[in-house]
Amino acid sequence: MKTDGYRNDDVLYERAAAVIRDTNNGIAVTGAGISVESGIPDFRSAGGLWSRYPPDQFATMEAFTQNPDKVWEMWYELAESLQGVEPNPGHYALAKLEEEGHIKAVITQNIDALHHHAGSNTVIEYHGNADKIACTACFRQRDMDLSHRALGAPRCECGGVMKPDVVLFGEVIPEYALRTSDMLARGCDVLVVVGTSAQVYPAASLPFLAKESGATIIECNTEPTNFTNVVTDIFLQGPAGETLPALTALVVGESDGGN
Ligand code: APR
Repeated sequence: MKTDGYRNDDVLYERAAAVIRDTNNGIAVTGAGISVESGIPDFRSAGGLWSRYPPDQFATMEAFTQNPDKVWEMWYELAESLQGVEPNPGHYALAKLEEEGHIKAVITQNIDALHHHAGSNTVIEYHGNADKIACTACFRQRDMDLSHRALGAPRCECGGVMKPDVVLFGEVIPEYALRTSDMLARGCDVLVVVGTSAQVYPAASLPFLAKESGATIIECNTEPTNFTNVVTDIFLQGPAGETLPALTALVVGESDGGN
């Protein structure tokens, strides 16, 4: 397969495809980078969300408690940016690998639900989901409602302040997501890690857990990360909307990676 541009080495793609083709026990771990080509900015790249909304002021439980209206300014903007976004070929490629029986779960740090919309069935939302909000007093849940934006932080019928049902810095990962992800990472043969800067724990521990258990780590990113020269076996450099379909095409033997 001869292509120009970012494709760093067909041998790497062939090796990665062979590893994935030979397993029915693979998992994927994704970060904000896989959704960039769907029009959602990531957090730490130039111009990312944190460059406009410093996380210590907008994404910690402490900041939320001190000034929920201010924190909600960012979450309303993020929720608005998620309106109408669509999965990109990277999401569809992972759904295809699940359909073909090679990837049995996607563990995502993303809160945009795009893996679900792309057809992935087993998706673990490690940091929650922006579609829902929950009361900080009685834990009652309801849908995110942008029509209340002018009112600041939404209130619950019980009087409590509602927060996006996502994991803020300083909060714990939901027990189910934490335990299931650990178990999957420790038990898989192949872990494909896509579009994450490998800076936020405990999500960033998953490739290390998989590696310790003998798994092959395939990394897809536009640039090297803290994983690349430490735990990654095969690094496919480029945008996920192109690297994953190219990889999937080799695995399933189709021209377009199943999109
Ligand atoms: N294709 C592949 N990778 C990409 C692309 C792309 N099109 N665009 C950007 N990337 C890469 C960047 O190089 C970077 O390594 O995606 C990564 C995005 O990193 P972050 O912005 O740090 O996002 P993420 O790793 O998901 O952050 C983890 O931190 O802020 C918290 O809760 C938030 O879930 C998030 C967590």
